[in-house]
Amino acid sequence: MKANVITAHGPAAEVFALQQVGDLVPTPNDLILKVLTTSVNPLDCRIRSKASVPRNFPLTLGFDVCGMVVEKGRDVTGFEIGDRVIGSPTPFRNGANAEYVAIDYRSCARAGRLADEAGAAIPLVGITAYEALFDRLRARRGDWVVIHAGAGGVGHLAIQLAKNAGCKVITTASRRESLEYCTHELGADHVLNYRETDIAAAIMDITDGQGAGLIMDNAGTECFARCLDYAAHSGHICTILPVAVDEQQGYRLLLKNITLSYQFMGGVGSTGDQVNRQGQVLQKLVEMAERGQLRPHVSKIYDWHDLAHAHEEMERGHVTGKLVVRITN
Ligand SMILES: NC(=O)c1ccc[n+]([C@@H]2O[C@H](COP(=O)([O-])OP(=O)(O)OC[C@H]3O[C@@H](n4cnc5c(N)ncnc54)[C@H](OP(=O)(O)O)[C@@H]3O)[C@@H](O)[C@H]2O)c1
Repeated sequence: MKANVITAHGPAAEVFALQQVGDLVPTPNDLILKVLTTSVNPLDCRIRSKASVPRNFPLTLGFDVCGMVVEKGRDVTGFEIGDRVIGSPTPFRNGANAEYVAIDYRSCARAGRLADEAGAAIPLVGITAYEALFDRLRARRGDWVVIHAGAGGVGHLAIQLAKNAGCKVITTASRRESLEYCTHELGADHVLNYRETDIAAAIMDITDGQGAGLIMDNAGTECFARCLDYAAHSGHICTILPVAVDEQQGYRLLLKNITLSYQFMGGVGSTGDQVNRQGQVLQKLVEMAERGQLRPHVSKIYDWHDLAHAHEEMERGHVTGKLVVRITN
């Protein structure tokens, strides 16, 4: 089969190559999918650009998929050849920038009435948003939740999930397009320009001096450091990035009894329960999308021969919603 692999770590313009790679053989829990669409996530760019963990080359990225089942492992139940499914292939194997991908059936959901493009826009960011909001932060009706980077892949689904659960949302963005998108399309209660506004002062004001009880950090180190200024006593910060906490920050967390949690959707390991749960979460997200309660926003569709440009756009850091990639013959 053909795959648009990376041949080494390095700049997007230098390392992609369309190559013939070995055919996939399903493990007992695998579905082999003919890939229709995939998407680009910041994770793809991170893995491509440098070696955080040792990887073998050629390596196929692409950690979302909407595809058709063409083969299944011996333990697969609930999916048949020809089903159209969506999922997030684990970043620890080869991904979906290829004609075919292998994926654990327990982490997949039927695509239902979703278009192929919407199907590839949901899995990785949707599961991340859901797990951060409801498994880590335990957001409930009436809670104030700060969701940073609201117009991004994770943020735009997190805002919709939080609003749908009855939460009140404060979000951040900077471009006029994303500020308007968060306000008018996503219905965030307060949209703050992180380049022009004193975020801490604004949030203290909005929360009548109490600070934010629940904070989802989707932007990393600097954003996280500022969270400590406006997190409420006994609040909870969930970060989806590998931020480090220094001693002073540790004190500030301690003195306010703040819970800090990390959320990595790829960190489920291989135990059945966690993988199953992601499949269930994803099925729920598909059903919400079918009912119009979740609207994945696809801002651009790239052909898979043009992955380098898709990565370059992602690396500029100002995508609205998702960049989807169509796999063509
Ligand atoms: N732990 C996990 O499982 C997991 C899963 C998915 C993603 N992530 C990580 O989470 C981050 C977000 O992912 P994503 O897919 O949502 O990325 P994305 O789609 O590339 O996010 C783009 C958005 O981020 C906003 N933004 C950029 N810098 C910001 C800042 N300093 N403060 C607030 N907003 C900012 C931009 O808004 P403006 O253009 O208006 O500035 C843009 O709309 C990435 O670093 C990614 O690696 C982790």
